[in-house]
Amino acid sequence: MTIPSQTASPEQTSLAAAAILEECRLIASMSEEPGRITRRFLTPPVSQVYARLRSQMLEVGMTVSVDSAGNLRGLWQPKGAGPRRMVLGSHIDTVPDAGAYDGVLGVVMAIELARQAVANSLPLAIEIIAFSEEEGVRFGVPFLGSRAVAGRFDPALLALRDAEGVSLNQAILDFGLDPGGLPQAQIGEDTIGFLEIHIEQGPVLEAENLSLGVVTGIVGQTRCELQFLGHANHAGTTPMTLRHDALAAAAEWICAVEEIARRPVLNPPLLGDHAEAALVATVGKVATHPNAANVIPGAVHVSLDVRAAHDAVREEAVAELLEKASSIAMRRGIECESKRLMDQPAVPMDEQLTAVLAECVEAAGLPVRRMPSGAGHDAMVLGTRLPAAMLFLQSPGGVSHHPNESVRPHDIDTALTVGSLFLRRLALKIV
Ligand code: GLV
Ligand code: MN
Ligand code: MN
Repeated sequence: MTIPSQTASPEQTSLAAAAILEECRLIASMSEEPGRITRRFLTPPVSQVYARLRSQMLEVGMTVSVDSAGNLRGLWQPKGAGPRRMVLGSHIDTVPDAGAYDGVLGVVMAIELARQAVANSLPLAIEIIAFSEEEGVRFGVPFLGSRAVAGRFDPALLALRDAEGVSLNQAILDFGLDPGGLPQAQIGEDTIGFLEIHIEQGPVLEAENLSLGVVTGIVGQTRCELQFLGHANHAGTTPMTLRHDALAAAAEWICAVEEIARRPVLNPPLLGDHAEAALVATVGKVATHPNAANVIPGAVHVSLDVRAAHDAVREEAVAELLEKASSIAMRRGIECESKRLMDQPAVPMDEQLTAVLAECVEAAGLPVRRMPSGAGHDAMVLGTRLPAAMLFLQSPGGVSHHPNESVRPHDIDTALTVGSLFLRRLALKIV
């Protein structure tokens, strides 16, 4: 990709945005499924994406490597500048049938910002990380890439298995990497902080006719896996009163999840008084066994995703939802087992780094709209280890995790302006 320089000329800046959009669309074609964007952790299209991003990082003059968690990393160390580096990036994995911009936009924009920094001889070391896994689709547990970079990768995770029975350990080996090197993926002490540029994935900026948002913090999330275990039996011969239908139990519970999450949240959200920071709960995945029209479902596996700005609100909701699953199962004479896959508390963004970002938004002539993020991001894991900040771009229609996801070229231009001001300010601060 050759992205033209961003200068004061509106013509040239829109060329830069067009090139970024085109690059995101090209990366979208590197998918596990023809006609749909699906790119799970360490699947073959990830190698295609890395070949492309690697050559762009090399063009910028970066030293490029892939760590043992499969993160693609490019480092620019200017002569004469100290080793303290600013990290930019986001993730390149996607949900099934995804849009083209969630995660990828932040990586492609990071490369353009580094390219501008090098062209302008900015005395600041920059590392770009294209995180290998943020969505949790393949192994059910998200943030595998950023956990390793933050030094929070629990080796017990290597035993996780995907839907085909491949262990996480094996997936890393199959990608040509060594799981034994995971501790070395951890970022060094010589890091200034992390900036993630990302689409908002919600409707707020569009509703307020704004281009950009400055993230105050990221809501906490819990992910669980539940199994309702009844008895499979003949659909024609088993009377309705003698059934132990696992799917009917799961369905009753799924409706209860929606009802409980819709109740008004009594504790005020911590990350801002916005509706998007309230309690949300989702059952997004259901697998029924044996999944045949003429067999009463004997077992159902479901996912549960619960998020809230206030950790106590989330924890109480999870306890109530799991208790509800047990009581529904007991009343129906079946069993229910649950496993927690992840508990991630809400993470505030770093105040100082965020203040610098907000100053840059202001310097670019834009209003500073502070907002919490209801979506999870790599910044929430890195933010437990380093100062982290996030810049949101408007999501037209508030659409994300959907093929209709989009981003406006003008917002890319303004975000590039803010990102480059931000890097310049950091360079001045550390000289
Ligand atoms: C990632 O996009 C998430 O919020 O689950
Ligand atoms: Mn996502
Ligand atoms: Mn994302």
